[in-house]
Amino acid sequence: MSDDILVHRENGVLTLTFNRVDKKNAITTTMYQTLATALRESAEDDSVRVAVLQGAVEIFSAGNDLADFLKNPPNPNALETAPVVQFLQALHAFPKPIVAAVCGPAVGIGATMLLHCDLVYAGDNAAFSLPFVNLGVCAEGGSSVMLPQAVGYQRAAEKLLLGEAFYAEEALDMGIVSRILPPGDANAYAQAQAAKLAAKPASSLRVTKALMRKSQPGMQDLMLAEIREFVQLLSGPAAKEAITAVMEKRKPDFSKF
Ligand code: COA
Repeated sequence: MSDDILVHRENGVLTLTFNRVDKKNAITTTMYQTLATALRESAEDDSVRVAVLQGAVEIFSAGNDLADFLKNPPNPNALETAPVVQFLQALHAFPKPIVAAVCGPAVGIGATMLLHCDLVYAGDNAAFSLPFVNLGVCAEGGSSVMLPQAVGYQRAAEKLLLGEAFYAEEALDMGIVSRILPPGDANAYAQAQAAKLAAKPASSLRVTKALMRKSQPGMQDLMLAEIREFVQLLSGPAAKEAITAVMEKRKPDFSKF
């Protein structure tokens, strides 16, 4: 197993740490597989009572690996088995509390995965962005419905259509972050909150979370529908131009698309 995701289980807490800092914790197919497997196994494992998702003090995640988008996209004929889909489904279905600690940039799926977490602690350096349109693709991870539900349609539209970064204070105001902390304290705070949760009755946590998430029926189907559109757009010329431009550190030219 690669070390790009660190999987650690201790005292009832599963900790998943993005550990590919040299590539800004960009997520590869292998990393999605590791995350999905750890979440699925821990969902069934009574010794795990809480999960924590965390990155480094300067970066949470730059989202999907851009080279993978071009070289290794999900197979449109087998989307259910695509590692990214497996991860999103396992994350959304995880029956126990998920605590996230987010410092630095959280881009694309690095941000949308947070909508599936229960407590989100942000470093004051957190910078969220949903640049799907700018990359010639579309919203994923349930964000086309979960973000408008969470923050209202117009505010969600601004984030999803313009794709500009927004910061910890605004995320707190939007209600998608639970608390802001100094970046150096965020992971430890998330662990402390997870330890509190791990000491509570697991059945009450599970039932309460299930009741709270009941207002989001059909999310697995929605996420699949989003990925279907996403993969189709990904094979189109606008996405090729956009992603190549990011990798070549130049401005994209969408005048023909
Ligand atoms: N996929 C693959 N590699 C990535 C990456 C990604 N999503 N994001 C960053 N990297 C790599 C860069 O190519 C660079 O690699 P190199 O050192 O081999 O050249 C390294 O990580 C550092 O990235 P850099 O852009 O120099 O860091 P930064 O601190 O200036 O900026 C980000 C950080 C996250 C703001 C910026 O990297 C970024 O915007 N990345 C793209 C995010 C994106 O569009 N994701 C897809 C969302 S759907």
